[in-house]
Amino acid sequence: MTTEVKQSDQKRRITKVDDPSKRTRRKRCCRETSMKMIRSPPVMFPLQKLYLTCLDAFKGVGTVPSPSDDQKLRHVIDGLMPEDFELPRNLQFLDPDSTVVVYTSVYQCQNFSIYILFLPENAVIPLHNHPGMTVFSKVLLGKVHVKAYDLVNPHIVDNPPSLSQLKLACLKVDNVFTSRCNTSVLYPTSRGNIHAFTAITPCMILDVVGPSYSKKDGRDCSYYKEIPYIVSQYEQMTMPKEDGKCYRWLEEIKKPKESEIDRLEYLGPQIVEVSP
Ligand SMILES: [Fe+2]
Repeated sequence: MTTEVKQSDQKRRITKVDDPSKRTRRKRCCRETSMKMIRSPPVMFPLQKLYLTCLDAFKGVGTVPSPSDDQKLRHVIDGLMPEDFELPRNLQFLDPDSTVVVYTSVYQCQNFSIYILFLPENAVIPLHNHPGMTVFSKVLLGKVHVKAYDLVNPHIVDNPPSLSQLKLACLKVDNVFTSRCNTSVLYPTSRGNIHAFTAITPCMILDVVGPSYSKKDGRDCSYYKEIPYIVSQYEQMTMPKEDGKCYRWLEEIKKPKESEIDRLEYLGPQIVEVSP
Protein backbone atom coordinates (compact mmCIF):
# COMPACT_ATOMS: atom_id res chain seq x y z
CA MET A 1 0.00 0.00 0.00
CA THR A 2 2.74 2.30 1.01
CA THR A 3 4.67 1.46 -2.15
CA GLU A 4 1.63 2.03 -4.32
CA VAL A 5 1.04 5.41 -2.83
CA LYS A 6 4.63 6.40 -3.38
CA GLN A 7 4.51 5.27 -6.96
CA SER A 8 1.30 7.09 -7.54
CA ASP A 9 2.73 10.23 -6.00
CA GLN A 10 5.83 9.98 -8.11
CA LYS A 11 3.70 9.54 -11.22
CA ARG A 12 1.71 12.61 -10.32
CA ARG A 13 4.82 14.62 -9.71
CA ILE A 14 6.38 13.58 -12.98
CA THR A 15 3.17 14.33 -14.82
CA LYS A 16 3.09 17.81 -13.37
CA VAL A 17 6.70 18.51 -14.16
CA ASP A 18 6.46 17.11 -17.63
CA ASP A 19 3.36 19.04 -18.62
CA PRO A 20 4.57 22.57 -19.43
CA SER A 21 1.09 23.97 -19.93
CA LYS A 22 0.04 22.84 -16.50
CA ARG A 23 3.28 24.17 -15.07
CA THR A 24 2.61 27.58 -16.56
CA ARG A 25 -0.95 27.51 -15.40
CA ARG A 26 0.18 26.58 -11.92
CA LYS A 27 2.71 29.37 -11.82
CA ARG A 28 0.16 31.89 -13.02
CA CYS A 29 -2.26 30.64 -10.43
CA CYS A 30 0.33 31.12 -7.71
CA ARG A 31 1.17 34.58 -8.96
CA GLU A 32 -2.47 35.58 -8.99
CA THR A 33 -2.90 34.23 -5.50
CA SER A 34 0.12 36.11 -4.22
CA MET A 35 -1.03 39.28 -5.98
CA LYS A 36 -4.37 38.95 -4.27
CA MET A 37 -2.62 38.49 -0.98
CA ILE A 38 -0.43 41.60 -1.29
CA ARG A 39 -3.02 43.81 -2.96
CA SER A 40 -3.24 47.03 -0.90
CA PRO A 41 -6.22 49.38 -0.71
CA PRO A 42 -6.37 51.94 -3.54
CA VAL A 43 -4.11 54.91 -2.87
CA MET A 44 -6.16 58.03 -2.25
CA PHE A 45 -4.62 61.12 -3.74
CA PRO A 46 -4.15 63.99 -1.26
CA LEU A 47 -6.83 66.25 -2.70
CA GLN A 48 -9.45 63.48 -2.51
CA LYS A 49 -8.47 62.93 1.11
CA LEU A 50 -8.93 66.65 1.76
CA TYR A 51 -12.37 66.55 0.13
CA LEU A 52 -13.51 63.54 2.19
CA THR A 53 -12.21 65.12 5.39
CA CYS A 54 -14.10 68.33 4.56
CA LEU A 55 -17.29 66.32 3.98
CA ASP A 56 -17.02 65.02 7.54
CA ALA A 57 -15.92 68.31 9.10
CA PHE A 58 -18.31 70.86 7.58
CA LYS A 59 -21.89 70.08 8.52
CA GLY A 60 -23.52 73.22 7.16
CA VAL A 61 -24.76 76.63 8.21
CA GLY A 62 -24.57 77.44 11.91
CA THR A 63 -21.99 74.78 12.72
CA VAL A 64 -18.24 74.64 13.21
CA PRO A 65 -16.12 71.50 12.83
CA SER A 66 -15.92 69.37 15.98
CA PRO A 67 -12.54 69.43 17.78
CA SER A 68 -11.61 66.01 16.36
CA ASP A 69 -12.66 66.95 12.79
CA ASP A 70 -10.78 70.22 13.24
CA GLN A 71 -7.61 68.31 14.13
CA LYS A 72 -8.04 65.85 11.25
CA LEU A 73 -8.50 68.66 8.76
CA ARG A 74 -5.47 70.56 10.07
CA HIS A 75 -3.39 67.40 9.74
CA VAL A 76 -4.49 66.76 6.13
CA ILE A 77 -3.92 70.38 5.11
CA ASP A 78 -0.52 70.52 6.84
CA GLY A 79 0.64 67.73 4.52
CA LEU A 80 -0.38 69.43 1.27
CA MET A 81 2.11 70.92 -1.19
CA PRO A 82 1.78 72.84 -4.47
CA GLU A 83 2.52 69.60 -6.35
CA ASP A 84 -0.68 68.06 -4.98
CA PHE A 85 -2.57 70.59 -7.09
CA GLU A 86 -0.11 70.18 -10.00
CA LEU A 87 0.97 73.76 -9.47
CA PRO A 88 4.49 74.96 -10.30
CA ARG A 89 6.59 76.42 -7.50
CA ASN A 90 7.97 79.23 -9.66
CA LEU A 91 4.64 81.13 -9.93
CA GLN A 92 5.76 82.30 -13.37
CA PHE A 93 2.17 82.78 -14.44
CA LEU A 94 1.94 85.78 -12.09
CA ASP A 95 2.70 89.10 -13.75
CA PRO A 96 5.76 90.46 -11.86
CA ASP A 97 4.67 94.03 -12.61
CA SER A 98 1.19 93.52 -11.20
CA THR A 99 -0.13 93.33 -7.66
CA VAL A 100 -3.46 91.83 -8.70
CA VAL A 101 -4.36 88.76 -6.71
CA VAL A 102 -5.35 85.63 -8.64
CA TYR A 103 -7.40 82.72 -7.35
CA THR A 104 -8.47 79.34 -8.54
CA SER A 105 -11.47 77.40 -7.27
CA VAL A 106 -10.56 73.78 -6.63
CA TYR A 107 -13.97 72.72 -5.35
CA GLN A 108 -17.14 74.35 -4.11
CA CYS A 109 -20.38 73.14 -2.59
CA GLN A 110 -22.83 74.67 -0.13
CA ASN A 111 -21.05 73.36 2.95
CA PHE A 112 -17.47 74.22 1.99
CA SER A 113 -15.12 75.66 -0.61
CA ILE A 114 -11.52 74.86 -1.43
CA TYR A 115 -9.57 77.53 -3.27
CA ILE A 116 -6.03 78.76 -3.76
CA LEU A 117 -4.92 82.38 -3.74
CA PHE A 118 -1.86 83.56 -5.65
CA LEU A 119 -0.40 86.85 -4.45
CA PRO A 120 2.35 88.66 -6.35
CA GLU A 121 4.92 90.44 -4.19
CA ASN A 122 3.37 93.43 -2.36
CA ALA A 123 -0.17 92.35 -3.27
CA VAL A 124 -2.76 93.08 -0.59
CA ILE A 125 -6.06 91.44 0.27
CA PRO A 126 -7.73 94.13 2.39
CA LEU A 127 -9.46 93.52 5.71
CA HIS A 128 -12.51 91.34 5.09
CA ASN A 129 -14.74 89.06 7.14
CA HIS A 130 -16.03 85.49 6.94
CA PRO A 131 -19.55 85.65 8.42
CA GLY A 132 -20.46 82.49 10.31
CA MET A 133 -17.59 80.68 8.69
CA THR A 134 -14.58 78.62 9.73
CA VAL A 135 -11.47 79.08 7.58
CA PHE A 136 -8.41 76.85 7.43
CA SER A 137 -5.47 78.63 5.76
CA LYS A 138 -2.12 77.19 4.77
CA VAL A 139 0.72 79.00 3.04
CA LEU A 140 1.86 76.59 0.35
CA LEU A 141 4.61 78.85 -0.93
CA GLY A 142 6.17 82.21 -0.09
CA LYS A 143 5.87 84.63 2.79
CA VAL A 144 2.80 86.62 3.79
CA HIS A 145 1.96 89.02 6.58
CA VAL A 146 -1.41 88.41 8.21
CA LYS A 147 -3.29 90.85 10.39
CA ALA A 148 -6.52 89.61 11.93
CA TYR A 149 -9.15 90.99 14.29
CA ASP A 150 -12.16 89.74 16.20
CA LEU A 151 -15.10 91.95 16.98
CA VAL A 152 -15.42 92.66 20.68
CA ASN A 153 -19.23 92.57 20.47
CA PRO A 154 -19.94 90.68 17.26
CA HIS A 155 -23.68 91.31 17.28
CA ILE A 156 -23.67 94.94 18.39
CA VAL A 157 -22.84 98.05 16.41
CA ASP A 158 -20.89 100.31 18.74
CA ASN A 159 -21.73 103.89 18.01
CA PRO A 160 -19.64 106.42 19.87
CA PRO A 161 -21.20 109.90 19.62
CA SER A 162 -18.72 111.19 17.06
CA LEU A 163 -18.50 108.07 14.92
CA SER A 164 -21.14 105.97 13.22
CA GLN A 165 -21.34 102.36 12.15
CA LEU A 166 -18.09 101.44 13.82
CA LYS A 167 -17.31 98.16 15.48
CA LEU A 168 -14.72 97.71 18.15
CA ALA A 169 -12.23 95.01 17.30
CA CYS A 170 -9.34 93.35 19.10
CA LEU A 171 -6.13 92.42 17.28
CA LYS A 172 -5.59 88.65 17.33
CA VAL A 173 -2.91 88.00 14.72
CA ASP A 174 -0.08 90.21 13.49
CA ASN A 175 2.48 87.76 12.13
CA VAL A 176 4.38 86.59 9.10
CA PHE A 177 3.48 83.13 7.80
CA THR A 178 5.51 80.87 5.49
CA SER A 179 5.11 77.38 4.09
CA ARG A 180 6.89 76.08 7.21
CA CYS A 181 3.98 77.24 9.36
CA ASN A 182 1.18 74.90 10.29
CA THR A 183 -2.36 75.49 9.13
CA SER A 184 -4.02 78.42 10.87
CA VAL A 185 -7.73 78.43 11.62
CA LEU A 186 -10.22 81.20 12.26
CA TYR A 187 -13.75 80.73 13.57
CA PRO A 188 -17.02 82.70 13.27
CA THR A 189 -16.30 84.89 16.30
CA SER A 190 -12.74 84.04 17.34
CA ARG A 191 -9.12 83.62 16.25
CA GLY A 192 -9.25 86.57 13.85
CA ASN A 193 -12.36 86.24 11.67
CA ILE A 194 -11.59 89.59 10.00
CA HIS A 195 -8.22 89.45 8.31
CA ALA A 196 -5.92 91.04 5.74
CA PHE A 197 -3.00 89.60 3.77
CA THR A 198 0.07 91.41 2.48
CA ALA A 199 2.47 89.39 0.35
CA ILE A 200 6.10 89.88 1.35
CA THR A 201 7.19 87.56 -1.49
CA PRO A 202 5.06 85.98 -4.23
CA CYS A 203 2.97 83.42 -2.42
CA MET A 204 0.38 80.70 -2.74
CA ILE A 205 -2.23 80.21 0.00
CA LEU A 206 -4.72 77.38 0.32
CA ASP A 207 -8.04 78.37 1.89
CA VAL A 208 -10.60 75.81 3.01
CA VAL A 209 -13.79 77.60 4.02
CA GLY A 210 -17.04 76.35 5.42
CA PRO A 211 -19.85 77.10 4.86
CA SER A 212 -19.21 78.76 1.50
CA TYR A 213 -19.82 82.46 0.95
CA SER A 214 -23.41 83.00 -0.18
CA LYS A 215 -24.83 86.46 -0.76
CA LYS A 216 -28.43 85.23 -0.84
CA ASP A 217 -27.97 83.50 2.52
CA GLY A 218 -26.41 86.55 4.19
CA ARG A 219 -22.82 85.36 3.98
CA ASP A 220 -21.44 88.01 1.68
CA CYS A 221 -17.95 89.36 2.19
CA SER A 222 -17.67 92.77 3.92
CA TYR A 223 -14.60 94.98 3.84
CA TYR A 224 -13.26 97.20 6.61
CA LYS A 225 -11.02 100.14 7.28
CA GLU A 226 -9.04 100.44 10.52
CA ILE A 227 -9.43 103.53 12.65
CA PRO A 228 -7.13 104.13 15.63
CA TYR A 229 -8.66 103.43 18.98
CA ILE A 230 -8.52 106.75 20.79
CA VAL A 231 -9.62 106.84 24.36
CA SER A 232 -12.21 109.54 24.71
CA GLN A 233 -14.49 110.33 27.61
CA TYR A 234 -17.21 108.24 25.95
CA GLU A 235 -14.90 105.31 25.40
CA GLN A 236 -13.59 105.43 28.95
CA MET A 237 -17.16 104.94 30.08
CA THR A 238 -18.19 102.20 27.67
CA MET A 239 -15.14 100.42 26.28
CA PRO A 240 -12.89 97.79 27.81
CA LYS A 241 -10.26 99.04 30.18
CA GLU A 242 -6.62 98.94 29.07
CA ASP A 243 -5.72 95.26 29.33
CA GLY A 244 -2.63 94.99 27.18
CA LYS A 245 -4.67 94.11 24.11
CA CYS A 246 -4.63 96.14 20.92
CA TYR A 247 -7.99 97.62 19.93
CA ARG A 248 -9.10 99.32 16.72
CA TRP A 249 -12.36 100.66 15.37
CA LEU A 250 -13.36 98.91 12.17
CA GLU A 251 -15.49 100.80 9.71
CA GLU A 252 -17.29 98.85 7.02
CA ILE A 253 -16.44 100.21 3.59
CA LYS A 254 -17.43 99.56 0.01
CA LYS A 255 -15.51 96.85 -1.79
CA PRO A 256 -12.06 98.43 -2.32
CA LYS A 257 -10.43 98.51 -5.71
CA GLU A 258 -7.51 96.37 -4.55
CA SER A 259 -9.92 93.61 -3.55
CA GLU A 260 -10.62 92.81 -7.22
CA ILE A 261 -9.08 89.47 -8.03
CA ASP A 262 -8.57 87.56 -11.25
CA ARG A 263 -9.78 84.02 -11.67
CA LEU A 264 -7.59 81.25 -13.01
CA GLU A 265 -9.08 78.02 -14.29
CA TYR A 266 -8.25 75.07 -12.07
CA LEU A 267 -6.48 72.38 -14.09
CA GLY A 268 -5.21 70.12 -11.30
CA PRO A 269 -6.46 66.73 -10.10
CA GLN A 270 -10.24 66.49 -10.03
CA ILE A 271 -12.13 65.54 -6.92
CA VAL A 272 -14.45 62.55 -7.26
CA GLU A 273 -17.68 63.51 -5.52
CA VAL A 274 -19.38 61.05 -3.20
CA SER A 275 -22.68 61.23 -1.38
CA PRO A 276 -22.28 62.85 2.03
FE1 LIG B 1 -10.14 85.58 3.96
